[in-house]
This record gives sequence, structure tokens and C-alpha cells, in this order.
Amino acid sequence: MAGKGGVGKTTASATLALAAARTGLTVLVVEVAGRLDSGPMFGADPQGYDEQTVCRVASAGTVRCRCITPDAALLDWLSSHGFTRIVRRMSRSGLLEIVATATPGVKELLVLGKLKHLEQSRVADLIIVDAPAAGHALNFLRAPLAVRNTARTGVLRRQATEVLEMLTDSERCRALLVTIAEETPIKELVETAFAVEDEVGLALGPVVVNSALGAIDTLEGGDGGLDRDQLDVAALANELTPQELDDLVTAANFRRDRMALQVDQLDSLAQQLPLAQIRLPHLFTTSIGLAELNTLADAADSSIEEISVLGD
Ligand SMILES: Nc1ncnc2c1ncn2[C@@H]1O[C@H](COP(=O)(O)OP(=O)(O)OP(=O)(O)O)[C@@H](O)[C@H]1O
Ligand SMILES: [Mg+2]
Repeated sequence: MAGKGGVGKTTASATLALAAARTGLTVLVVEVAGRLDSGPMFGADPQGYDEQTVCRVASAGTVRCRCITPDAALLDWLSSHGFTRIVRRMSRSGLLEIVATATPGVKELLVLGKLKHLEQSRVADLIIVDAPAAGHALNFLRAPLAVRNTARTGVLRRQATEVLEMLTDSERCRALLVTIAEETPIKELVETAFAVEDEVGLALGPVVVNSALGAIDTLEGGDGGLDRDQLDVAALANELTPQELDDLVTAANFRRDRMALQVDQLDSLAQQLPLAQIRLPHLFTTSIGLAELNTLADAADSSIEEISVLGD
């Protein structure tokens, strides 16, 4: 899952993880940008390098979370290849910086290599990777190409080649790009989509449109906005103060303008990128917890059902 910073990558990752677990799948969510935000969305502690189960859906699947950083992946790799003594001696002395300076892209490759290992070991039915924000996500995905071009032989080249095999196999791996219905994130999403497909050869899944506003019933003949006259009747019935009335008019008109903007932006997205869309509603809440994830997963299910009907 990739997209501009703050558009809801972690929320969308957690939502799709829960939606999949509700169908009986075991899901592993991996954060790779050093953030530990997914565990808490399920009401669990922030996750560490070792995975933790954050949600068990009754009679269905589970969601586990973990966080993979290059340093932890390097230590893990060295330990599992018989270099435990080096690890003990060098873990605090910047070993990774030495390796990374020698070969650009190696940090990202360490994380991707670990992901490939998890995928090959079939640790879960579905692995969802909560990628770094857009520009960094591209560097992350380009890393194996960079390493393959510099390392002519050896373990790094082999690792880069195997990671690329995974990334370019649409049966094993797809990129889902996340956005909100606003101009800049959509522009970035379209650029990222072409780069991901053309440069890396990674297939795209549906786009996730997060924080979408739902259509609201309008007064008969109305356009979603309000004026004072229309509200006067309601005001008498509900004994609203003039101030409350003015606030209501402002709120309704704001909402109408946002809806119009959303329609325009989503039209433009559909024209530039003819991919199916999973729409997640904007929830009027201060934070996302398990209850909110369930609501979002319901919406994801409906979108996915629509996509499969269209696909039939
Ligand atoms: N559909 C939604 N409804 C309401 N609030 C939302 C929704 N999606 C995300 N948020 C809120 O928006 C904020 C950003 O969401 P999130 O952390 O998922 O974004 P992100 O893309 O992962 O951000 P970052 O780039 O910082 O990792 C959070 O406070 C989250 O609670
Ligand atoms: Mg995030």
C-alpha cells in the first residue's frame, strides 16, 4: 500500500487486513517506514520486529502485525546465516552504515529480501506492506534494480534478482495506491502508478480512495446546499437560534462544495487511471480503532463486491 503522506495508508492497510481476516484468511501487516501505527488501530500495543497477533476474528482469520527496519533485517539475516558473533560485536557499531555506503539500495533490499522470505515461507495467506510515503515508496521499490545494476555477482545480486521476481509476478505481489479525493495526492498517485508499473514492472491492484464523503439526501429540488428560507421551517420546529441556523447553512454549503470537488477529482482520477476503486468513507471520529476498522471493512467489502460484479 503506497500513497502520499497522511492519506490513510495505515488505515487502509488495517482495513483490508481486517476485511481479509473476516473471510477466514491469516493476514500479516508489515510496516516498513519505521512507524508503529497499525497495532494500536486494533487496540493492541505498538508492534515490534517480532510479530504479534492484534486481532482474532471469531470463527474466521487473524491479523498479525510487525515492523521491519533495515537494521533489524540485517541482524536477522546475519544471525540466520551463522554470523551470530559478528552480530554481537557489531550490532551497535554501525555495521549497516558500512554496508549501505558501499552499495546504494542495500537498506531497502534488506527489507524487501525479508518480505520475500516471509512470502516464500507462506507465513500468512496475505501479507500487506504499509509502504513509506509516495516518493520514498518508489525509491524503496527501485532499490533491487539499483543493486542488480551495481552488484555483478554474489549474494546481493541474487537477492535483488529474487526480489524482482516477486515484485514482477502479479500472482504474488501487487501495488495498491491510496489517495484522498484531492488534487495533489491524486496527481502524485498517478505519477507513482506509472513509475511503479513502467520502471519496476509491479502490477497495480485497485486504487483505494480514502476519506470519501457519502452522498447525503438533499431537500427536494436542492443541490445539497441550503439557504435560510429552506431552514426556517426546521428552525421553528426545532427552536434553533439564528446563530445555529447560520452555522447549519455554512456547514451544509461547505459539504456541498466538498462533494462537488470530490466528484470532479474522482472523475479526473478515473480518466487518468482506469483502475477499479475501493472507496472508504470519511468517519467523523478523532481516532481509528477496531470499531471504525469494522465500519471501513464493511465499505471495502461493498466496493470489492461491486468490482467483482463488474469484472464478471
Ligand atoms: N476514513 C477515515 N476517516 C476518518 N479519519 C481517518 C480516515 N482515514 C484516516 N484517518 C485519520 O487520518 C490520519 C492519517 O491516517 P493514516 O495514519 O492511516 O495515514 P498514513 O497515510 O498512514 O500516514 P503516514 O504517511 O503518516 O504514515 C489518522 O489520524 C487517521 O486516524
Ligand atoms: Mg502510516
